[in-house]
Amino acid sequence: MPAMLILGIESSCDETGVALYDTNAGGRLLTHALHSQIAMHRDYGGVVPELASRDHIRRTAPLLRKVLSETGRKLDEIDAVAYTQGPGLAGALLVGAAFAEGLAVALGIPVIPVHHLEGHLLSPLLSRQPPAFPFIALLVSGGHSQLMRVDGIGRYRLLGETLDDAAGEAFDKTAKLLGLPYPGGPALSGMAEHGRPDICQFPRPMLNSGDLNFSFSGLKTAVLTHVREIGTPDEQQRADIARGFQDAIVDVLVKKSMRAIKHSGLTQLVVAGGVGANWELRRRLNECAAKAKVSVFYPEFELCTDNGAMIALAGALRFEAGLSLKSAGAFAVRPRWPLCELTG
Ligand code: KG4
Ligand code: ZN
Repeated sequence: MPAMLILGIESSCDETGVALYDTNAGGRLLTHALHSQIAMHRDYGGVVPELASRDHIRRTAPLLRKVLSETGRKLDEIDAVAYTQGPGLAGALLVGAAFAEGLAVALGIPVIPVHHLEGHLLSPLLSRQPPAFPFIALLVSGGHSQLMRVDGIGRYRLLGETLDDAAGEAFDKTAKLLGLPYPGGPALSGMAEHGRPDICQFPRPMLNSGDLNFSFSGLKTAVLTHVREIGTPDEQQRADIARGFQDAIVDVLVKKSMRAIKHSGLTQLVVAGGVGANWELRRRLNECAAKAKVSVFYPEFELCTDNGAMIALAGALRFEAGLSLKSAGAFAVRPRWPLCELTG
């Protein structure tokens, strides 16, 4: 198969990501560029969809120019455009999809619509020590918390998922409760470092449910009740609450992941999605995995949250597997799109 230069475009939420991936010699990410909208949404305490869409319009072309100039490649060298088709915010997805499809029509090249979560799932393959199929994946982002068995490209089996809030969502909502700025996950995790262990004991939801599902909304309510009981928590009390919350959520994620590994008989665990950037989660997972002789794989730290590199990679792997390639032109985005509907 001739080498292909794949452009990847991510625009599903509040990050515009553009990347170039070369399939030559086993494949290599040439570069990626990112614009985060965090500063823009911060005043509103969360993502404002219309502002997100408008900002993607402003950012995509300059980011494309940046990756081309960084790599010394020309627009007409691109062989296919991979873009996030869903899930995500409808307007934001439409911007990336329209840009990708329009560019592909102009260049006379095909497109590869990509599932955002598949991008996250495969992102550890870009690291220096990548996992090999099959593996168990813990996918923990702002919108999803799932345990999957991954047997190959497009061969994903859902083992368990959250019944209510996603792990990232629980971090964000709890952080808001503690008066921390958006996005709450990293802020809460920073605050938890100053918290004392075991001062705040919060419930471990569904820890012993016997299945691999999660539920995090009760944990958030337990924090709310605790904050109300205190009234106005001081700095140390807020840090203790953050620590108690993080310990509870990490405990559940680690135990369920290890249970999934045990049931499957596999020895590799991949952690992907924004919450995978949480150091305490990494520390605890590494500790438990080492005891169980299991290898844990993470994306490079900067690729944990949304980016174009994972979309370019997923596009390249789909292309190589003979999947998803379509002619540019008519298109639709899929704001809601269960990963299990994806075919291999
Ligand atoms: O994967 P991602 O960038 O976007 C989605 O596809 O949702 O994940 C964003 C989520 C947010 O909820 C954010 O608060 C959380 O990941 N997050 C973290 C950390 N960094 C990002 N949660 C806990 N600890 C972190 N260090
Ligand atoms: Zn994401």
